[in-house]
Amino acid sequence: MNATLSVETLRENAINSPQEYWAEASKLVDWMIPPETILDDSNPPFYRWYRGGVMNTCYNAVDRHVDAGRGEQIAIIYDSPVTGKKRQYTYKDLQIAVARTAGMLVKYGVSKGDRVIIYMPMVPEAMFAMLACARIGAVHSVVFGGFAPKELAKRIEDAKPKIVMSASCGIEPNRIVHYSPLLKEALALCEHQVDKCIILERPQSPVTLNEETDVDWLTEMQFNRQVDCVPVMATDPLYILYTSGTTGVPKGVVRDNGGHAAALCWSMKHIYGTNPGDVYWAASDIGWVVGHSYITYAPLLAGCTTIIYEGKPVGTPDPGAFWRIIEEYHVDIFFTAPTAIRAIKCEDSEGKYLKNKDLSSLKALFLAGERADPDTLQWAETMLKKPVIDHWWQTELGWPALAACLGLGDTHTKHGAAGRAVPGFDIQIIDENNDPVPTGETGDIVIKLPLPPGCLPTLWQGNDKMLESYLIEHEGFYSTGDAGYIDDEGFVHVMSRTDDLINVAGHRLSTGGMEQVLASHPSVAECAVVGAADSLKGQTPVGFVVLKKANTIQDDILIKELVAKVRDTIGPVAAFKRVHIVSKLPKTRSGKILRKTIRQIIDGEDWVTPATLDDPAGLDSIAAACAS
Ligand code: COA
Ligand code: AMP
Repeated sequence: MNATLSVETLRENAINSPQEYWAEASKLVDWMIPPETILDDSNPPFYRWYRGGVMNTCYNAVDRHVDAGRGEQIAIIYDSPVTGKKRQYTYKDLQIAVARTAGMLVKYGVSKGDRVIIYMPMVPEAMFAMLACARIGAVHSVVFGGFAPKELAKRIEDAKPKIVMSASCGIEPNRIVHYSPLLKEALALCEHQVDKCIILERPQSPVTLNEETDVDWLTEMQFNRQVDCVPVMATDPLYILYTSGTTGVPKGVVRDNGGHAAALCWSMKHIYGTNPGDVYWAASDIGWVVGHSYITYAPLLAGCTTIIYEGKPVGTPDPGAFWRIIEEYHVDIFFTAPTAIRAIKCEDSEGKYLKNKDLSSLKALFLAGERADPDTLQWAETMLKKPVIDHWWQTELGWPALAACLGLGDTHTKHGAAGRAVPGFDIQIIDENNDPVPTGETGDIVIKLPLPPGCLPTLWQGNDKMLESYLIEHEGFYSTGDAGYIDDEGFVHVMSRTDDLINVAGHRLSTGGMEQVLASHPSVAECAVVGAADSLKGQTPVGFVVLKKANTIQDDILIKELVAKVRDTIGPVAAFKRVHIVSKLPKTRSGKILRKTIRQIIDGEDWVTPATLDDPAGLDSIAAACAS
């Protein structure tokens, strides 16, 4: 790809000649057999990239760098303030560790196409596990450690894995999260039986393994059973990543091998502007898409050094933790969520922890995961004196769709906007009739099909679910579920969701899922959960419940029970801590709960009584609860 072309030219080329454009990008991947067809558009609205191509993602992320003579370069830096451990792995070390991990999976019967669930904290072994699956063509599905057993069980039941790979614990600053009982509980909830659980025992949580069902990870790794990369089709699945849908049932986003590798390589070069050998750090968790794309795959595909950070932005030990990492490892590009910057700003608004840090290596800070509020952007720019680039994407897309492409010399940003379309993404704003809305007016943010390589080709639940979830609402377009507008300079302002998903500390959660949990409490007649504005986490969920007449539980006890029920069912990550008992919910005459008005009331925004309101008592009840 010619980096001297402007981002505008590339944007046009990608839209006008996608075949040529993405044929060029495919050269960033090492193929065993090059693709026969760049874009298979024979079955719209389903499109496949690089059909006929044969490659291996693990080979591209690991072995090819060793083969190219860069085996001694650092591939992974593990820095864990919560355990006090630091370790570094060269590409050669990584190759051996991944090949052995793959050998362990093969020994326990895993082969091409089999699923493997990875339920792990931020340790290097989690990354070895992902890459080991890729090496043998198995399909991994990583589940974030902050989810409760029921959420883990849903994913196991859907993905039907042969093996679960887990650790004895994760470490949160305030507690050790013992995974073994959580995993046991999840497996007990599933009809699907896994063959084995491979458990990484950590010193912070020794475990007694069940000889029948469990395998000791570290013992197995002592055997030098290294296996090589197997050829897979570009269109074969690399992983499934479950993400919150509008109901309590998570959607299994499928990522393929070839398109994913090409798109991520392209993004590292042109969006982030990295070169092989650069240090790229995404402070997220491998359980999220940011962790998949920009902790594990993209930096390694691009031959960079990636950082696995087992800690938080604040409290491990202080708000200078991120700056220490950037200084210590000479980080070139840093990526995190605005919530993390807000957490630092809240504890160190004057930037005292930045004062003596040498951040000269840093070229830019990229933010994503939620809307970046202008205050936070301004603060980061003032403190760092570097470009701070908000960019936008989703689990489904796999890589940024809106950004300033630093690698193409584009640092043009605008506070409040998430960037301009990345070449390959034809982003439009339309109304419910699929008509374009005028510049500056809000509508549904959609992407014209075909989506570029790297985006989801389908859902694990099948093409019908994919159609229903993303492709039916606006024919010929992918519906992002976000609403916003494009301004006269082409910047896209992402304003809100059009569904009931909320974003809590950069984590995407379904209020519908939380409502299902509340509604299952025997005392609850009906309920609503909405996302209230939160100065640290962006949004936090707030529940409103109407009780059954027969309820006998005291209010304060009931509230505790409801909070605990959401935590136990969805997980601590839901950050569900606030519930109000109300006498009535505001509804339209057709019975639809007026969630938007409820949210406006909680946030203290101006609101008008909707014309369709059924009974004003519902709104009065919410207003009284919020005022109390
Ligand atoms: N395993 C188990 N529990 C976890 C967990 C994990 N991997 N990650 C978070 N949790 C728990 C936390 O311990 C906390 O539990 P608590 O209610 O007992 O305190 C709860 O889930 C909420 O966690 P979190 O959202 O992390 O809130 P916090 O108050 O602990 O920290 C921030 C706030 C802003 C520091 C933190 O959310 C953060 O670092 N966010 C960055 C988000 C991010 O990287 N997003 C990815 C998209 S780019
Ligand atoms: P996830 O799939 O968890 O990555 O969440 C994706 C959703 O997070 C998007 O659809 C948006 O609603 C929101 N989001 C992500 N990045 C941004 C951003 N830069 N600005 C505004 N919203 C964002």
